[in-house]
Amino acid sequence: MRLTVIGTGYLGAVHAACMADIGHDVLGVDVDVEKITALAEGRPPFYEPGFDEVLTRALASGRLRFGTSLREAAVHGEVHFICVGTPQRAGSHAADLRYVDAVVDGLVPHLPASCLVVGKSTVPVGTTARLTARIAGLVPAGVRADVAWNPEFLREGFAVEDTLRPDRIVVGTVGRESDETLRRLYAPMLEAGVPYISTDPSTAELVKVAANSFLATKISFINAMAEVCDAAGADVVTLADALGHDTRIGRRFLNAGLGFGGGCLPKDIRAFTARAQELGVGPAVAFLAQVDEINERQRTRTVELARQLAGGDLTERRVTVLGATFKPNSDDVRDSPALAVAAALHREGADIRVHDPEGTENARRTHPELRCEADLLTACQGAELVLHLTEWGQYRELDPVKLALVVRKPVLVDARNALPHDEWRAAGWTVKALGRPA
Ligand code: UGA
Repeated sequence: MRLTVIGTGYLGAVHAACMADIGHDVLGVDVDVEKITALAEGRPPFYEPGFDEVLTRALASGRLRFGTSLREAAVHGEVHFICVGTPQRAGSHAADLRYVDAVVDGLVPHLPASCLVVGKSTVPVGTTARLTARIAGLVPAGVRADVAWNPEFLREGFAVEDTLRPDRIVVGTVGRESDETLRRLYAPMLEAGVPYISTDPSTAELVKVAANSFLATKISFINAMAEVCDAAGADVVTLADALGHDTRIGRRFLNAGLGFGGGCLPKDIRAFTARAQELGVGPAVAFLAQVDEINERQRTRTVELARQLAGGDLTERRVTVLGATFKPNSDDVRDSPALAVAAALHREGADIRVHDPEGTENARRTHPELRCEADLLTACQGAELVLHLTEWGQYRELDPVKLALVVRKPVLVDARNALPHDEWRAAGWTVKALGRPA
């Protein structure tokens, strides 16, 4: 099928390449010329394991092209995917839909034939209905453009795998025709047994924000338990393991620590709360404000722990921060808990060195006040305190004996509960973590 993917950020670029990979003829479109040039040359504009291979393969197949023209997109596509960002609106928690609207306004007047417009961006419930009305006022005479919602559930770091082998495909349509088009489009995945949930647009829009709200709640739940563990002298990791054996609960997303960040979970729970208030059901999701608050508190708790370990004053103390991205296997530093903690310590006068395997370029851009070191040992040289804030695999492989020789004081805060504490303690380190007994 001939598809366009409009918005080639994280979500769109991966979707475009994967759709070409499964046999469709895809045109990726973005207003950012630099990004489009990079993608067209097979250079991923972000770090994502496995993406460069799919991109190279898709470009070589001749089924993937990139451009900047919505007019060209209008002519190319039988199905148009909208994958642009829906950031938090300035001065409010609600989602800003101006980029989604701009795509519709730029595309629809140029449609030469009937087609399907499919939203993938995370949007407030009711958006499909609103766009349907907007399109009706723009579409050329004799042309029909139906709207469907098909939320995306990919995780950064696993984007290619999640796109090619998703846990489920959720599609919200009005009318059988749109549903049949999307079933044909995703046929290779459906044949491989991926569950396909066909519903109305409002339910589809809600599945996405409900899923992210549930994941955020699960993380904040275990972080709340970590606070109780600290007060009671109990161990949150053993608690999570024991809870996780109950298959109704499950062990995933019960990793206590510094909490969630990134471009999705924090913004999505806030936008969902704002939308629920508009719908008059604010009290139903009022708990999400607590989820957010518990999450923010883990950052404060980590800063407090660092201050305590520095004897109450961080002024001019050499602190090494391991990790800058919001999670491992990504170069994304949006709302990164690690950088939020590093910046707070810097404000208290600490002399910070940040190390991250992939995120230092972005960290330097967003936090020019922080000193980033490309080399791990250089970053740790002379440290009085080491904070492990993003659980990259290579930090797990660190040799605590060797590292103890490089630092001034072997004191570690493992704010992700991901390092082998016994080994570090045996190597002479003082190890502290959230929700674990000392
Ligand atoms: C999240 C969802 O997991 C995806 O399903 C969704 O498609 C995506 O948002 C989106 O809306 O686009 P992502 O933001 O890539 O994906 O990252 P996650 O793997 O969900 O991690 C989010 C944050 O939670 C990270 O900061 C991570 O460190 C933290 N986390 C995760 C914990 O603190 N504890 C856990 O147990 C798990």
